[in-house]
Amino acid sequence: MIVSTKKLFEHAYGKYAIGAYNINNLEQTMGLFRGNMDSQAPFIIQISKGARSYTDKRMLEAIIRAADEIFPDAVFAVHLDHGDEQTAYDCIESGFYSSVMIDASHEDFETNIAITRRVVDAAHAKGIVVEAELGMLGGVEEHVAVSEADAKLTDPDQAKEFVERSGCDSLACAIGTSHGAFKFSGNQGLRFDVLSQIQNRLPGFPLVMHGSSSVPQEEVERINAAGGQIKGAKGVDADQFKRAAELGVTKINIDTDGRLVWTRVHREFFANKPENFDLRPPGKEFMAEYAKFIAGKNEKLGSAGQLPAVKKMLQG
Ligand code: G3H
Ligand code: 13P
Ligand code: ZN
Repeated sequence: MIVSTKKLFEHAYGKYAIGAYNINNLEQTMGLFRGNMDSQAPFIIQISKGARSYTDKRMLEAIIRAADEIFPDAVFAVHLDHGDEQTAYDCIESGFYSSVMIDASHEDFETNIAITRRVVDAAHAKGIVVEAELGMLGGVEEHVAVSEADAKLTDPDQAKEFVERSGCDSLACAIGTSHGAFKFSGNQGLRFDVLSQIQNRLPGFPLVMHGSSSVPQEEVERINAAGGQIKGAKGVDADQFKRAAELGVTKINIDTDGRLVWTRVHREFFANKPENFDLRPPGKEFMAEYAKFIAGKNEKLGSAGQLPAVKKMLQG
């Protein structure tokens, strides 16, 4: 059942975070639904602009509708990830998405507010909620001065003004993470000090953490042992998710880790069976491994086991 992220966030706030997982194809979709059903978790499906154009935007919609029928007990939201203004309008018009992200974080403060406000007005007119972003996500190098690194993080005072003036429903904050497999070069981690200040300024308001893959070292080692060349990859400590949730983070975005599972399964499969050229055996293995991965992630997020309570809340 497709639901609004608003409802999911109300249930999760301060207690746990909902996993927001990107999909591009049917194998990811099947693994995602299975993993969430196995762990009894509500979840968010994220579709990026790149995913929409990988085949045809209608393809992913059709796959999700099919999965909804195959897994009638699943409760999830469908969300546009990192939308630009035009893509956000396209998704709002489509009537399929329950929420959209407008990412104008690369613009100056006033322009970011103006663009976000326009998208919010269009989305709210159709009952769709909007995630916006303030601050700059980026890899934090160890040698970068603290003041320089801090300048990219979300400013807590600006965050309050941004939310009030833009009317957005949730806010993606830069608190030290970055996209991809190379997030930290040393012992840097999440900036809970900044997160806590944002929560103080915006009590009860749902916050979002992008760039939250953990980049498990075992996964990286297995990929490299099977011919990959991913050196020095490092991610977010998943044991910190629950603390982030207590500080108002209700949505945690994970994409890279799923790509690592895909790469590991396929590299190992073909390295071990060089004579094989059938796509289904590794595809099946990937779906099972991805389901296992999702269930494990949901344990870390605290969303595992929440499905019955979420359903009860939706009914009541
Ligand atoms: O934050 C970006 C997501 O990982 C989606 O990546 O734009 O390559 O689909 P993508
Ligand atoms: P990762 O690259 O850490 O998986 O982050 C994904 C993300 O933020 C999608 O919006
Ligand atoms: Zn992101």
